[in-house]
Amino acid sequence: MKIAVLGATGQTGQHLVSQALQQGHIVTAVVRNPAKLTVQHDNLKVVEANIFSADSLKVHFKGQDVIMSCLGFPTSFFSAVTGYTLSMNAMINAMREARVNRVITMTSWYTEPNSGTQSPYLIRFLLLPMIRSVLNNMYEMEAFLQKTEDISWTVVRPPGLKNLPASAQEFLTHEGYFVPDSSGQPAGGVVGRGDVARFMLSLLNSNAWVKQAVAIITK
Ligand SMILES: NC(=O)c1ccc[n+]([C@@H]2O[C@H](COP(=O)([O-])OP(=O)(O)OC[C@H]3O[C@@H](n4cnc5c(N)ncnc54)[C@H](OP(=O)(O)O)[C@@H]3O)[C@@H](O)[C@H]2O)c1
Repeated sequence: MKIAVLGATGQTGQHLVSQALQQGHIVTAVVRNPAKLTVQHDNLKVVEANIFSADSLKVHFKGQDVIMSCLGFPTSFFSAVTGYTLSMNAMINAMREARVNRVITMTSWYTEPNSGTQSPYLIRFLLLPMIRSVLNNMYEMEAFLQKTEDISWTVVRPPGLKNLPASAQEFLTHEGYFVPDSSGQPAGGVVGRGDVARFMLSLLNSNAWVKQAVAIITK
């Protein structure tokens, strides 16, 4: 398949690009700083574009089968985070103009403001308040996609990310804001970035989770 990857220079994005190339896909990495992408491959094209401009993106989206995003924006205590909604708005408009119908993006567990009430103490009272501005904008982006009827979107929600390559572990999935264990409590708290990339790419081979948001973790 022909895949355009946004956030390709990021920690998860680089796993996604490498695995996609290993699987035989043709990848266009849409980046702001080409020098940051260390992967080199005959089937990899690196282009510079403005992720907040549909006009800038659409030329690179033409002819793609799918757009995948591992974009991330820093948390802020003083102002709202807007990168997720602004970039997704530009991506969707560019997709319409370029006639690309499939987008797979990542957010996080606990994007819904009240969904962390069963999470462990440190996550609930320390981590989630620290990153709430990021989670809020992810939640707004998810709501925007839920209203986007003409595009086949999927949101992948991982818990905390670790810098680990892809494993062969089975995934647990749940259509919700976290993956519950048998007692309804969050089933663990971390996943390897390589496994998130592996899960996102596995969606290319099936119609699973189209127009849905799926929380994931490895077993
Ligand atoms: N950390 C966690 O435990 C955790 C848990 C769940 C979900 N997440 C979310 O998962 C996603 C991926 O995380 P990660 O750690 O792999 O991300 P990351 O390493 O921080 O990478 C973020 C990517 O977004 C790109 N980006 C940011 N602003 C941009 C802009 N204005 N124009 C173009 N590109 C821009 C960065 O480009 P540059 O390389 O040029 O900076 C980079 O490629 C993020 O949304 C993160 O919030 C994180």
